Amino acid sequence: MYMFTYYVNNTERVVAVAYISDDLLSEIVAANDIIEYASSFMTLKKSGRQYKACCPFHNEKTPSFGIDRDKQLFHCFGCGASGNFLQLVMRLEGLDFQDAIKQLADRAGIVIPEDGERRASAAAQVKERIIEMNKIAARFFHDCLGQEHGRQAREYFARRHLTKKTIIQFGLGYAPDSADALVNFLKTRGYSDRDIEVSGLAVTGKNGLRDKFRNRVMFPIINARGKVIGFGGRIMGNDKLPNGVRLAKYLNSPETAAFDKGANLFALNLAKNSNARDIILCEGYMDVITVHQAGITNCVATLGTAITDRQARLMLRYGSEVLICYDMDEAGTKAALRAIDIIAAAGGRSRVIRLSGAKDPDEYISKYGIDSFRKAIDKAMPSTEFRLHLQKQEYDLNDTDGKIRFVEAAANVLAAVNDPVEVEAYIKKTAKDTGISEQSIFGKYKEIKGRQPRSPAVRTKEEHKRRELSRINSSKPPQERVSAAARDAERKLLSIAARSKRLANRAAKLITPDEFSDKVYAHMAQRIYESAAAGEEADPAAIINEFSGERESEDQAGAVFFNREEYSDDEQTLYDLIYKIKLDRLQSKINAAEQPEEIGRLLEEKTKLIADRGRWQSIN
Ligand code: CTP
Ligand code: MN
Repeated sequence: MYMFTYYVNNTERVVAVAYISDDLLSEIVAANDIIEYASSFMTLKKSGRQYKACCPFHNEKTPSFGIDRDKQLFHCFGCGASGNFLQLVMRLEGLDFQDAIKQLADRAGIVIPEDGERRASAAAQVKERIIEMNKIAARFFHDCLGQEHGRQAREYFARRHLTKKTIIQFGLGYAPDSADALVNFLKTRGYSDRDIEVSGLAVTGKNGLRDKFRNRVMFPIINARGKVIGFGGRIMGNDKLPNGVRLAKYLNSPETAAFDKGANLFALNLAKNSNARDIILCEGYMDVITVHQAGITNCVATLGTAITDRQARLMLRYGSEVLICYDMDEAGTKAALRAIDIIAAAGGRSRVIRLSGAKDPDEYISKYGIDSFRKAIDKAMPSTEFRLHLQKQEYDLNDTDGKIRFVEAAANVLAAVNDPVEVEAYIKKTAKDTGISEQSIFGKYKEIKGRQPRSPAVRTKEEHKRRELSRINSSKPPQERVSAAARDAERKLLSIAARSKRLANRAAKLITPDEFSDKVYAHMAQRIYESAAAGEEADPAAIINEFSGERESEDQAGAVFFNREEYSDDEQTLYDLIYKIKLDRLQSKINAAEQPEEIGRLLEEKTKLIADRGRWQSIN
């Protein structure tokens, strides 16, 4: 738990104190991508599993600064700077711990509960307890698999060609054919009826609490941090009970405080450690398990629901492209088209793995072996080609009318593609397929594109990022967020300058009064700089007097001279504050900018600022 203080504007009046749990802290950090974050401060180049850049903390020409995306760590082999994601935020933006967390929470749109300790920790406690119970349940199911009553389940897994190693690796288990085996087990461990009910492991019926999962093989769902957040359970044979009731083939845990189906992926805990470039997305638990068992470990599945935007972003964090490997039926094809859209809207690219002669990857691998599956991965179709391919099958290309209608359909598909090179390549291909000229097809494409509002599904990664940023920024009053931090830094900077002529002169060289966002502070900077240049101490009373009549400004000016904060190194703090003020200013300009040229220019300015920072100390 970390103490978390809320301030209103620059007066540092504490309005609320909250505690942020370790859990929420790691959730906030995990909801951000260190590479995406860092790339707005430096130009990163991918090199193997790492990203390299020129170090923002010292002056250098060849990159010795590396970021490990998976470990979320940075390290500079030049100056030795090193740390985790949060420390990177603190150092790059000159923020303290709390503000760095707030910054990351804002970026991810996570709201840190403000109304005090109780609510934040109560929710965190419920979640933690469910995760604890899930872990106990997973062990219980796994143990049952090894017992006498687990024989049928062991045989089932054997029929599906799962090895002992795989069963252990995925923590598979067996939920006994009993109404209350797990409920009773949890009670012996001290959990109350209420605890058990909110865990989703049991349901309340006429006869009280009853195990949710009965006589099923069990698939624990484990999040990227290794916590069991829920379960899927599959029937082993007949889906009809003797009394005629039909059972669902798969039964999943309900959403709980610990289980957010749209934000997690099956086997991500394993897939995130794979060194593969891409990530494979399947429909089913068994597909994923079979693919992993065959040695391909970058494979995940959704959790019995259609893919969400959050899942798409999660996959794109671990793979540069998503290879969709859905079932080979109509439903699977439809779902693949949806997945393509959602991944594109999240700023990513996808390809489609097509398997013939089997209904799903699990069956395909059992039938044709892993080498065939690898070949199918290598031949995965780019999403645009897949769309065109599906269209092509709808029309008879031996027939003139069929050709015309296919060209129209193809132009429609291409109108949703953002990359002009890709569009051109597929126009060429369509011309070849139909014998209709590239110009005519291009004309059709232009016509459709011209009358279409731009589809949200085809945003580029940059656009997506920008929209996301403006969404986050527009969700709170800009004055409160951007300038409270800036004004705070301005106040601190002036108080250092006011107590040291030498440092005032240094500040004067690095930041002009009109770079201060606050009018009062800008005026004070002017006065303090003038005094220092004349070799005099700044005269607080005189300066405050210049604001006489305006109560608020007086108070504000006075506060600068009464700042009693001690810094271990005033000069270094001064540079950090100047950097922070300049950076905030640039960042709000970047956020507000519309024109790509302007954004480009501002980003360059930002790169320069970061690079120059290390030289400030030696400027005379
Ligand atoms: N699913 C579900 N509830 C169901 C059916 C399916 O949640 N009643 C989800 C499960 O996550 C399942 C996935 O959808 O893994 C794919 O379903 P399906 O293709 O029917 O099953 P398979 O993965 O082929 O499973 P199996 O091979 O075990 O039959
Ligand atoms: Mn299957």
